[in-house]
Amino acid sequence: MNRPRPGSATARAAANIALIKYWGKRPGMLNLPATGSLSLTLGALTTTTTVSFDPALKTDQVTINGHDDPQVTRRIAAWLDLVRAAAGVTWHAAITSRNDFPTAAGLASSASGFAALTVAAEAALGIDFGAPRRAVFARRGSGSAGRSLYGGFAIQHRGERDDGEDAIAEPLFPAAHWPLAAVIAITDPRPKPVASTDGMTLTARTSPYYPAWVESSAADLAAARQAIAARDFERLAALAEHNCLKMHASALAADPGVVYWRGATVDGIDAVRELRAAGVPVFFTIDAGPQVKAICLPAAQDRVRERLAAVPGVHQVITSALGEPAEVLAAEPGGDRC
Ligand code: PMV
Repeated sequence: MNRPRPGSATARAAANIALIKYWGKRPGMLNLPATGSLSLTLGALTTTTTVSFDPALKTDQVTINGHDDPQVTRRIAAWLDLVRAAAGVTWHAAITSRNDFPTAAGLASSASGFAALTVAAEAALGIDFGAPRRAVFARRGSGSAGRSLYGGFAIQHRGERDDGEDAIAEPLFPAAHWPLAAVIAITDPRPKPVASTDGMTLTARTSPYYPAWVESSAADLAAARQAIAARDFERLAALAEHNCLKMHASALAADPGVVYWRGATVDGIDAVRELRAAGVPVFFTIDAGPQVKAICLPAAQDRVRERLAAVPGVHQVITSALGEPAEVLAAEPGGDRC
């Protein structure tokens, strides 16, 4: 590793949508997933983050979409402590981050956010963590963030080790392997009422269906990998919908039940299934929020968009092709502040 310096860098990372979900953590403080997961990276939903380490700063400063939120700043400062400890530095940082899509409404802004932050922090310090460490840092920020380091199709391994060093994300296939499209129906643009960490922790603690969810996940993941390798759309559709509904079933059976859906979410599911029954290659998935994410072959995108836009209660429809890996957009050494 190079000697770190207090520089500044800007990085961009894309959001991702899990087709095989992460829902539940292993015990301990390392943010270790109970299951592996598999996702698509979405090029149209990005976070751009600038990190400037500055020896003159007394605390970390964080602005997201023009706002400071003390709770978010504490979470990011705790994450920066891990990076500072690894790099052997004490400098605080000023961070500004902007999403080009609704924040915290089940569109995985924490994933693109922590992926962009990881890549920007590393470039600002002028060091190279290497891919496995980078994935560990991203995962420590948010369990789904390691997947946003990569383009196309990405996997987050569950790992077996207690220290989490093998619980890393890796690229599976680039976007060009199978250029699927995502059509996202926004049924409620407000931040979700239950954060994903709270929802999955409650599910793990109280849902009688949680053990069954965890137990069936590894087989889903292996089958989805095969379906993607073979570009078998029907197989992937069946696996992804089943996996999504199992995740939500486990959450619904928590005590008290965690309900992320709105009426328009259910109507969106019906609309997608009707389209598929009519021969349109499309399936749905839903994360810890009310939005319906329809995945389709690019030729079907306009038809899916039109159908979802007509569902009462859908406010907006966003379409996206698969995205590229997280990247550094600019870096300055900032040596004059040393
Ligand atoms: O990374 P988190 O803590 O926001 O959790 C993500 C959980 C889901 O989006 C519901 C599933 C997933 O694998 O992305």
